[in-house]
Amino acid sequence: MKEKNDNFLFNFIAPIYGLFYNSQKKNYKITIDKMRNELNLNNYKNIIDIGCGTGALCAVLNKEGLDVTGIEPAVKMLRIGMNKDENKNVNFLECSTCSKLPFEDKFFDLSITSYVAHGLHKEERYQLYNEMNRLTKDYVIIHDYNSKRNIITNIVEWFEGGDYFNFIKVVETELNEHFKSVRIVNVEKRAAWYICEPY
Ligand SMILES: C[S@@+](CC[C@H](N)C(=O)[O-])C[C@H]1O[C@@H](n2cnc3c(N)ncnc32)[C@H](O)[C@@H]1O
Repeated sequence: MKEKNDNFLFNFIAPIYGLFYNSQKKNYKITIDKMRNELNLNNYKNIIDIGCGTGALCAVLNKEGLDVTGIEPAVKMLRIGMNKDENKNVNFLECSTCSKLPFEDKFFDLSITSYVAHGLHKEERYQLYNEMNRLTKDYVIIHDYNSKRNIITNIVEWFEGGDYFNFIKVVETELNEHFKSVRIVNVEKRAAWYICEPY
């Protein structure tokens, strides 16, 4: 039931979300460049982007030379990314971590999920972490909010109805419970890369 509601929300806002595709790409490129000394993505072959939305991050990762798989349950978000010529080499799939993803254990060198975790309630978030642990050989990257709040984020996240207000308090503890190690690097004023070593 929860998954259905999430799909409804993101399918509904997909056309608006799509307007930010180019600015999202620009921001993701800046983040990846900034993070090169911490984790150089060019050293890896393939990556899965979980909850890839309209595929902006997939496009940037693919341009970095990685083989990219993007998975997303909201089909209207997914179609925006799939219909871009620049994404013809990205493998997009309509699915979610609410069920086991169709890949063997440790199939990916890296996995990333950007602004997905905070929107999920605890049990679904743990499913996300467990699936990323299973699929990933080298590093799991959770790109999401840090604990610095502002009024706009508070309002948007209140409307989204996810678990933002709790997530920012517990994220460090729960990632340490799910992964071998966690390194936190702020990538923007209010966002971090939580770089986790999978089991
Ligand atoms: C805030 S959007 C972020 C989209 C994209 N990562 C970005 O940075 O633009 C969150 C996305 O996560 C997707 N999502 C929600 N629950 C998910 C799950 N359990 N597994 C995979 N994707 C999920 C939603 O459909 C939505 O597109």
